[in-house]
Amino acid sequence: MNICVIGTGYVGLVVGTCLADFGNHVVCVDSDQRKIDMLRQGDLPIYEIGLSDIVKRNTAGGRLEFSTDLSSAVQDSLVVFIAVGTAPAEDGSADLSSVYAVAEQVGNNMDGYKVVVNKSTVPVGTGTRVTEIIRAQQTTAQDFTVVSNPEFLREGSAIEDFLKPDRVVLGTDDPHAEAIMRDIYRRLSQNNTPFLVTTRETAEMIKYAANAFLATKISFINEIANLCELVGADVRDVAYGMGSDARIGPSFLQAGPGYGGSCLPKDTRALRMKGEQEGYSMQVIDAVIRVNENQSQRIIEKIRRGAGGDLSGKTVGILGLSFKPNTDDMRDAPSLAIIPFLQQEGAHVKAFDPVSAEEAGRFLSEVEFSGSAYDAADGCDVLLVLTEWNEFRDLDFQDIKERMRQPVLVDAKNIYDPAALVAAGFEYYGVGRSA
Ligand SMILES: NC(=O)c1ccc[n+]([C@@H]2O[C@H](COP(=O)([O-])OP(=O)(O)OC[C@H]3O[C@@H](n4cnc5c(N)ncnc54)[C@H](O)[C@@H]3O)[C@@H](O)[C@H]2O)c1
Repeated sequence: MNICVIGTGYVGLVVGTCLADFGNHVVCVDSDQRKIDMLRQGDLPIYEIGLSDIVKRNTAGGRLEFSTDLSSAVQDSLVVFIAVGTAPAEDGSADLSSVYAVAEQVGNNMDGYKVVVNKSTVPVGTGTRVTEIIRAQQTTAQDFTVVSNPEFLREGSAIEDFLKPDRVVLGTDDPHAEAIMRDIYRRLSQNNTPFLVTTRETAEMIKYAANAFLATKISFINEIANLCELVGADVRDVAYGMGSDARIGPSFLQAGPGYGGSCLPKDTRALRMKGEQEGYSMQVIDAVIRVNENQSQRIIEKIRRGAGGDLSGKTVGILGLSFKPNTDDMRDAPSLAIIPFLQQEGAHVKAFDPVSAEEAGRFLSEVEFSGSAYDAADGCDVLLVLTEWNEFRDLDFQDIKERMRQPVLVDAKNIYDPAALVAAGFEYYGVGRSA
């Protein structure tokens, strides 16, 4: 099948590459010439484990191409995936301008029946608006179907998630479009992946509801962690005790600096805004967002305490800048909220991240980037671990202690054993547990 994927970012590139690996002919389109040039030269514009090999295999096999020419890609395809960004607008709602701009171009270039698939995360009703735009832009009337097919992959395990999803959601009431989508995903149904076919509106809502629920689990455990600190309980054991209950489950119950990344912050805000637009106040989501915004302040407070109450003239070393390990994505990373605060209070910030330092440099100023975790600890008054990269899990803390001006560790991800750190001579601050 001929497919084009418009938007070659973290989602579009993975989706397009995996669909090519299923045997389809895929053109990945992007308006960013730099990205397309890199991909044509065999370089990846993003860091995603395992992706490079599959891109190489499919470009070599002639199944995967990269282009800025949206018109030809649409004309040559039966199925057009829209996977452009839906960043937040000023008021927190999803900015749909890229989705609508693509819909216009798809309409302009529609020369026969096509299935237009919305992969981008978009509020309920967007599929209907995309349908209207396409219809209005057509020069000659053509039949088409707009399907909602939300994506649930996670950066850092995107290939695995795409190839082994918990479910595939298809929002359409058109049996012909459904049959084409089922054909595209035939490989997944052969692996017994559950398919949920529902209305387009319901499919659009499922994605927001799923992300909002994950964010709720994180804010919930962070709130419990904050209370644990006051009463002397250990949130890791609380989370284990709670999460062992099959009705609750253990995932997304790790206390920390709050959720970040390209999805949960923007999607919770967009869902709250959608409620407002519909005249309904999303009270749980509102609380989830407020707890999350407060969480980075609690980490700053621990750093301040560790520095003796005043950050002026102190050096803070930060290990990990991306919002989670195994990605270079810096969108809404907690480090971007925390570092400017530390600097405002007069701290000098050093940082090390195995992958995202270059990307982080685009958003941060006056940070001294280090070549290793050990270099980042040199001369520091406080060391903050903010992303749980595997290589930080087993550091030589004797060496680190000798390098630091004061052995103070803020473990924002609770990856160390507090007793061991204290025995090694550190002043230790975790989240939701005491040393
Ligand atoms: N990143 C994730 O983990 C993830 C997971 C599930 C769903 N999503 C959703 O998928 C969508 C895409 O997210 P992403 O992380 O891949 O974003 P991204 O910013 O990495 O990629 C979007 C791409 O679209 C391109 N683009 C924008 N306007 C364009 C246009 N008019 N024509 C052609 N290309 C255009 C941009 O240049 C960019 O390369 C979003 O709605 C997001 O919420 C993301």
